[in-house]
Amino acid sequence: QNAPLVDKFGRHVTYLRISVTDRCDFRCTYCMAEDMTFLPRTEILSLEEIDRIASAFVRRGVRKLRLTGGEPLVRRGIVTLVERLSRHLDSGDLDELTLTSNGNQLTKHAAALANAGVKRINISLDTLDPELFRKLTRWGDLSRVMAGIDAATAVGMHVKLNAVALRGQNEDELETMMTWAHGRGHDMTFIETMPMGDTGEDRADHYLPLSIVRSRIAARYTLTPLAITTGGPARYFQVEETGRRLGFITPLTHNFCESCNRVRLTATGQLFMCLGQEDRSDLKAIIRATPDDTDLDAALDEAMTRKPKGHDFLIARGAHSISTPRHMSVTGG
Ligand code: GTP
Ligand code: 5AD
Ligand code: SF4
Repeated sequence: QNAPLVDKFGRHVTYLRISVTDRCDFRCTYCMAEDMTFLPRTEILSLEEIDRIASAFVRRGVRKLRLTGGEPLVRRGIVTLVERLSRHLDSGDLDELTLTSNGNQLTKHAAALANAGVKRINISLDTLDPELFRKLTRWGDLSRVMAGIDAATAVGMHVKLNAVALRGQNEDELETMMTWAHGRGHDMTFIETMPMGDTGEDRADHYLPLSIVRSRIAARYTLTPLAITTGGPARYFQVEETGRRLGFITPLTHNFCESCNRVRLTATGQLFMCLGQEDRSDLKAIIRATPDDTDLDAALDEAMTRKPKGHDFLIARGAHSISTPRHMSVTGG
């Protein structure tokens, strides 16, 4: 009954990403259009329902939960949800409970999250330049996010910074960002822009393959490949000069699907077996039909049989440049 979740390619699903809301207090240009229509609140899972589904996954061997969005900290009650889910940390059934945030509301919540057992947090930071930050997020205030990073650090959380590499935008800054982050004790990950959802711009305009970034950095720093993983898709290098890690998430130039260990739950209770595909299971309908978890368990098994071998993201010019109509914020990255 508590059998692990294994797909037909033998991959164990031990990591559940939960998008708690598709809303966000920013509109990053590579992520969202300026004018977004968000999901109606009535369709969104309640905190109790999220807890119920997450807990079913934990019983089936999921060891890592990551709350994402949109921006998870704009969801009302988010801290309560984290506090409730932390019982699985206390019981030893979960290795990690964490979030991916844009940092904008973090000064408010850092202490409570740390108290609830959040030891690491990933924060998106694409530039150190306040002007460019405003432009990329469409209205964000860099100093607020910096304060959020400081608040998380001050309460003892390990902060990993994520930057989407953007040609002609933060391209010339990536190395500086790495040394800045490393100097402050943060690991850093660079990400290739993925063709998800319409943003009103052609992503090909700013697509920057990380192979280029890596060779530029490797010309000036010693990058030693690390075997470790955080259970995520990043390939990590130790930067000998700074003593810290640099990760590369390269869904376009090198896909990592063969070692995929995750599935994703949307805020409306849809389970996506792959970030890059449309196939899903409607877990909301199942849990709303009965309070008993037997059907939910069966649905998880059935979903595993549908996990695809991989995605096929491709950045091409024009209409073909959107692989899925869904924004990253719906499936939570
Ligand atoms: P850790 O390894 O635990 O630090 O987390 P992570 O890097 O998996 O998570 P994070 O939320 O920081 O995501 C960073 C980026 O990786 C986001 O842009 C995600 O969309 C992307 N990402 C995460 N998982 C996958 C995946 O399975 N496939 C693809 N293509 N991208 C992913
Ligand atoms: N391609 C790549 N990364 C994206 N993110 C959001 N949208 C995209 C996209 N289309 C990133 C954010 C954040 C992480 C959760 O996902 O910058 O760091
Ligand atoms: Fe919001 Fe993150 Fe998307 Fe930016 S990348 S709009 S912060 S969800």
